Amino acid sequence: MIYEGKAITVKKIEDGIAQLDFDLKGESVNKFNRLTLSELREAADKLKSDSSIKGLMVTSSKDCFIVGADITEFTELFAGSEEDLVANNLQANSIFSDIEDLPFPTVTAINGIALGGGFEMCLATDYRVMSTKAKVGLPEVKLGIFPGFGGTVRLSRLIGADNAIEWICAGGEKRPENALKDGAVDAVVAPDKLQAAALDLLKQCIAGKIDYKARREEKTSKLKLNQMESMMTFETAKGFVAGQAGPNYPAPVEAIKTMQKHAGMSRDKALEVEAKGFAKMAKTSVAASLVGLFLNDQELKKKAKDLEPKASPVKQAAVLGAGIMGGGVAYQSALKGTPILMKDIAQAGIDTGLNEAKKLLARRVEKGRMKADEMADVLNRIVPTLSYGDFKTVDLVVEAVVENPKVKDIVLREVEDVVREDAIITTNTSTISVNLLAKNLKRPENFCGMHFFNPVHMMPLVEVIRGEKSSERAIATTVAYAKAMGKTPIVVNDCPGFLVNRVLFPYFGGFIGLVRDGADFQKVDKVMERFGWPMGPAYLLDVVGMDTAKHAGDVMAEGFPERMKHEGTTAIDVMFEAKRLGQKSNEGFYKYETDKKGKPKKISDPAVYEMLKPVVSGNGEFDDQTIIERMMIPLCIETVRCLEDGIVETPAEADMGLIFGIGFPPFRGGALRYIDSIGLDEFCKLADKYADLGPLYHPTEGMREMAKSGKKFFG
Ligand SMILES: NC(=O)c1ccc[n+]([C@@H]2O[C@H](COP(=O)([O-])OP(=O)(O)OC[C@H]3O[C@@H](n4cnc5c(N)ncnc54)[C@H](O)[C@@H]3O)[C@@H](O)[C@H]2O)c1
Repeated sequence: MIYEGKAITVKKIEDGIAQLDFDLKGESVNKFNRLTLSELREAADKLKSDSSIKGLMVTSSKDCFIVGADITEFTELFAGSEEDLVANNLQANSIFSDIEDLPFPTVTAINGIALGGGFEMCLATDYRVMSTKAKVGLPEVKLGIFPGFGGTVRLSRLIGADNAIEWICAGGEKRPENALKDGAVDAVVAPDKLQAAALDLLKQCIAGKIDYKARREEKTSKLKLNQMESMMTFETAKGFVAGQAGPNYPAPVEAIKTMQKHAGMSRDKALEVEAKGFAKMAKTSVAASLVGLFLNDQELKKKAKDLEPKASPVKQAAVLGAGIMGGGVAYQSALKGTPILMKDIAQAGIDTGLNEAKKLLARRVEKGRMKADEMADVLNRIVPTLSYGDFKTVDLVVEAVVENPKVKDIVLREVEDVVREDAIITTNTSTISVNLLAKNLKRPENFCGMHFFNPVHMMPLVEVIRGEKSSERAIATTVAYAKAMGKTPIVVNDCPGFLVNRVLFPYFGGFIGLVRDGADFQKVDKVMERFGWPMGPAYLLDVVGMDTAKHAGDVMAEGFPERMKHEGTTAIDVMFEAKRLGQKSNEGFYKYETDKKGKPKKISDPAVYEMLKPVVSGNGEFDDQTIIERMMIPLCIETVRCLEDGIVETPAEADMGLIFGIGFPPFRGGALRYIDSIGLDEFCKLADKYADLGPLYHPTEGMREMAKSGKKFFG
């Protein structure tokens, strides 16, 4: 044994060959946490000073190779100064460079996932042999940063600037065949042949049959590009990548700038440039938000996992109503493997639901994401029916019939009579109180809300709504079923709008107020899209549908009259009364034409300004910042209220609900992290500027308390 730690061991295996093995004790995966890094330092020192070693093979004893850095350490790390971050990276890099400089050949056997720092470790050795089961990549940009353990330096020299730009800026995971084609690995072999192949390569190096030093030289020198080529490559890429990433995600372009800057340098200087660029990105609010998002996601996963033991298995599901939502639920359940009965009262409904599923599946087959026989299997998992005949086999029901409390009441009682006593019944209502719907049920403990978003196959969020009488088993089973469908469930308590719509309608309230005071709705859309929303509020209303928005708005106004009741006629009322329902009627705030791909294309319609005149009483010219503040403050305050009222349990869940449910700009982290980034004190002052606009703009007492004591929602 040459070295024995808690994450790394190094031992001699044969003929002077050493094996460095990653196996982080007490964890299911290997990751580059502080411990692993400090042990790698010690192991590298031992290897350096042992003159009997002729070659090194790097391996992992886990299913993965190394999943990457330990992101839970990032928040604290990134809180340090830029200088500290640079120093930190350079220190880590000295370890990787020492491994790269060992006086004998080195090979990594990549057995499983090797991402981020994990793949940068592989890049430090002379050669890489990869299992057909492994995946490699540098996904750092997804966290608002870029590779900082030498990835921008080594990968660009190894596979060329063009390829490295694509790997680093897109941040994707690469399959073995692609990694081999680009030259990022040297061989791909079956899992059971991996170590033998790595050893064989190493022995050829030791025997002098392969010139590993030449390979090393290439990796540690300047990039082989003349000035002209360099300019062409980097400048073209910058334009293209900037367009793809958009102005709110600076890391990909910064990665290119960094690679361009260090292209003419040899390794050690180049690493300094990388460290500076990395530190700059790590200090951005984008990185803070995206790292926060990752951590929130972990928290959500943990919550779902904690509920698992209380869940009953869902082997057979059923959906009532085969409309837009019911059809989507049936498709998603079948796609992910849970068979589902799809019941409607009308054959026409069933036909619509099935056709929608067929269309979605055919598209998957067309895109090569599914084989034709798999498509048949999925369709076979959807069993359409007009009767309750087979409902005794059902473990969980999703009710998705028309949004009418009387109809739902009848349907829910009906289905309760035909399912087993232990079956869970859920409702996909978007506006009716779950407690109200539970009233006439015999087993309200087996009932809760399961609120999907439209279109079901695209939208990642499911709100699981806990009624007063819902049991833990009902909640846990519904959460588990949502997870099995590939969705992210968030458990919330019952109130008008639940979490997502309760927060969305104050945002629409901000919009209505702006239009009333004379703002141009198209400008509002543009400003909010630049702010990071996938679509502005007027466009979003067109997509939601004016009838749905009006109905839900009325429910919200009834539930929270002091804040959400609007005086007089609103812009939404005008559109609704003119039967401009939005995309579904090809007219709303915009007009819609069908483009070549059959998708609705939005065009401006001057007539709308005329129609809105009666509800416009101001002629305000609003600058971008005012528009942002008037739109965002009501949404943010209502999110805090949901937290204070216990509608949602944690800030992480609230923020993730908004990101997954309504497309809140991810790089801003969610409403609560956005408030944190402004500071509660500053946020309250900002809101007070708009106090005259009404209670939607009034911070809660709790917020003022937090402001006084300097508290934050996160950390
Ligand atoms: N459309 C959305 O954007 C959206 C989003 C989230 C939640 N929801 C909710 O989902 C539910 C369904 O909405 P939708 O948009 O799919 O409506 P839809 O009108 O498209 O479909 C309703 C279906 O229910 C069927 N139906 C009516 N009575 C029935 C009964 N007694 N038994 C079985 N089937 C019956 C109808 O024939 C119709 O096919 C509503 O509660 C709605 O609020 C809708």
